[in-house]
Amino acid sequence: MEKIVINGTKPLKGELYVTGAKNAALGILPAAILADSPSVIDNVPDISDIQHYITMLRKLGAGVRFENHRLTIDPRSIRPENIRNIDEEVKSMRASYYLYGALLTLFKKVTMPLPGGCNLGDRPIDQHVKAFNALGVDIDKEKISKEETNPIFDGHCDKLTGADIYFDLPSVGATINALLASVKAEGVTMLYNAAKEPHVVDVANFLVAMGARITGAGTDTIKIRGVESLNGCEYSVVADQICIGTYMIAAAATEGDVTVKGIIPEHLDSVTAKLREMGNDITSGDDWIRVVGKRPLKGVTVRTKPYPGFPTDLQQPMGVLMCLADEDSEIYETIFTDRFQYTEQLIKMGADIRVHRTKEMDGEQKEIDAARSATFRGVGKLKGAEILSNDLRAGAAMVIAGLAAEGQTIVSGIEHIERGYEDIVGSFRALGADIKKVDFN
Ligand code: EPZ
Repeated sequence: MEKIVINGTKPLKGELYVTGAKNAALGILPAAILADSPSVIDNVPDISDIQHYITMLRKLGAGVRFENHRLTIDPRSIRPENIRNIDEEVKSMRASYYLYGALLTLFKKVTMPLPGGCNLGDRPIDQHVKAFNALGVDIDKEKISKEETNPIFDGHCDKLTGADIYFDLPSVGATINALLASVKAEGVTMLYNAAKEPHVVDVANFLVAMGARITGAGTDTIKIRGVESLNGCEYSVVADQICIGTYMIAAAATEGDVTVKGIIPEHLDSVTAKLREMGNDITSGDDWIRVVGKRPLKGVTVRTKPYPGFPTDLQQPMGVLMCLADEDSEIYETIFTDRFQYTEQLIKMGADIRVHRTKEMDGEQKEIDAARSATFRGVGKLKGAEILSNDLRAGAAMVIAGLAAEGQTIVSGIEHIERGYEDIVGSFRALGADIKKVDFN
């Protein structure tokens, strides 16, 4: 089994380009099958989630070529009878559920398992169902109930008709699924309280490049005018906001000096603000951000919020940096119900973290069913240990902890990391880290 072995602490120095955004590409690939002709998509990250998606699209009948970050997809041979062939891949990742919206647009009927994905607590799909129902899709609610041992998404409609959809929360996945199901619907669809993440905007921009009529992406109100057909196009995926933030935090954690290039700095405004608040030196230009890590680090409070708030996907890396401060910090995780499992691994490295699983109710502390906040004592340093990656972003946090720790750190569960980071070992080694992948069989 391969593990990542890191000898800290070496300050990261240099500059790097990050790949296209995983969470944009995972919406763009299913969007591409709505076209009547092939598309060419550049800057696609070479990560296992993308490879899984390519496998699903090929099993559906699409022709897909992928090399040097360029993906060519010809959707013209996709057939509905092939949908039953992708159950295993669907269950292996979260973004497979974008095929619900795309296949409803193509075939007006889809029967598939519910998606898998990182274990971050409860991850229902009620907002997706709400959008599909509004567009005229009948969904068998019994089959997707929690009680079902093998829940199945079974939806069908005679046609998709534009509607007003008000999301109860700005769900990234439900917003993208609603775009995929409404771009060829009859009439106008309005999405209210829509997600505004950069990757949501990128999927909308790709659909517009295919000929869709979408306005308002990036705001909380998106208007979609249904069109008769969509054409293949050429597109380049936006730089990955979460990867950029990961490398920025790693630079701060190792007192390094790193410039991330080829990016949209504004996408990282909340991260830049917090890193500055802690005392790091950050400058930026049109398409780059430079982070110079400083000491001592001050304590801060981070509340994860939908974009443009602090991204929940950078909460775990930020927790590592907080341990290196001289003051205490707080994290309030408002998006997911259980995204603090990684703190147990940091405690093995000398961290002092209290995850609050109780709440004052009726004058006494009561156990609650979610871990919504944690206190990170500013212990100032970490020491190397053998640690585990609980999920994708927790894995990135473990690597950052190893880079910042004194001594050797061995990180296992690296298959989680490889779902979302292309060559994380090579990228950090190029910045001067003593890091390598070792096969421990
Ligand atoms: C996307 O997940 C990302 N995944 C996640 O990134 C990211 O953490 C998340 O958005 C929030 O930004 C992909 O894009 C593939 P949501 P998604 O729907 O779409 C609740 C990573 O590391 N909710 O915005 O599942 C949900 O339970 C991954 O790249 C409902 O209640 O996120 C969660 O608490 C991890 N009902 C919150 O909303 C619904 O119908 C946000 O979920 C949908 C969501």
